[in-house]
Amino acid sequence: MMSDARVARYLALGGKVPSRETMWRTFATMLGHWAIRGYGFFAVVEKASGKWVGRVGPWMPEGWPGLECGWGVDATHWGKGYAPEAAIAAIKWIFQTNPALTRIISLIDPANENSQAVARKIGETRSGEKFQHEVAGALDIWAAPRDEWLKRFG
Ligand SMILES: CC(C)(COP(=O)(O)OP(=O)(O)OC[C@H]1O[C@@H](n2cnc3c(N)ncnc32)[C@H](O)[C@@H]1OP(=O)(O)O)[C@@H](O)C(=O)NCCC(=O)NCCS
Repeated sequence: MMSDARVARYLALGGKVPSRETMWRTFATMLGHWAIRGYGFFAVVEKASGKWVGRVGPWMPEGWPGLECGWGVDATHWGKGYAPEAAIAAIKWIFQTNPALTRIISLIDPANENSQAVARKIGETRSGEKFQHEVAGALDIWAAPRDEWLKRFG
């Protein structure tokens, strides 16, 4: 997934296709996030073929402005609605397992139209707040309040 420049543009630190060595460290970070926080990205698997198509789920490293639902789909599978389908399932799980969580957020580059389309489909709106990412720069905070979200998707 990350060997495609269209995906790396928004998911790799620095926006360039990362080396296998860098991705190995990224995988270790993702597994470490599960170990430290008790939650992290889920693998998204296409039911019909059993193929891995992406990763979607909760993400909150140190310094994050809230509990995020993030998404990334291999470019060969874009446009099939997999990111929104998986994000809705993941956010249900996040709210169930975090009863005190009042909102879910997603950090999105203002130029990333595909990701903004996903955010809209899953009931998030642009909050007007910004998060200054140390590498990616200013990102928009999209968000959905717990109660409203659960009424629509729960
Ligand atoms: C954002 C992303 C996860 C969307 O995944 P998806 O499973 O394709 O989601 P959808 O099928 O709902 O498509 C979302 C939008 O992508 C665009 N899109 C869909 N297929 C596309 C294609 N083949 N080529 C270019 N854009 C496409 C459309 O604008 C679509 O919105 P629409 O359905 O309102 O027309 C995917 O594009 C991706 O992995 N992008 C790179 C990583 C990234 O940006 N992650 C999010 C960081 S905040």
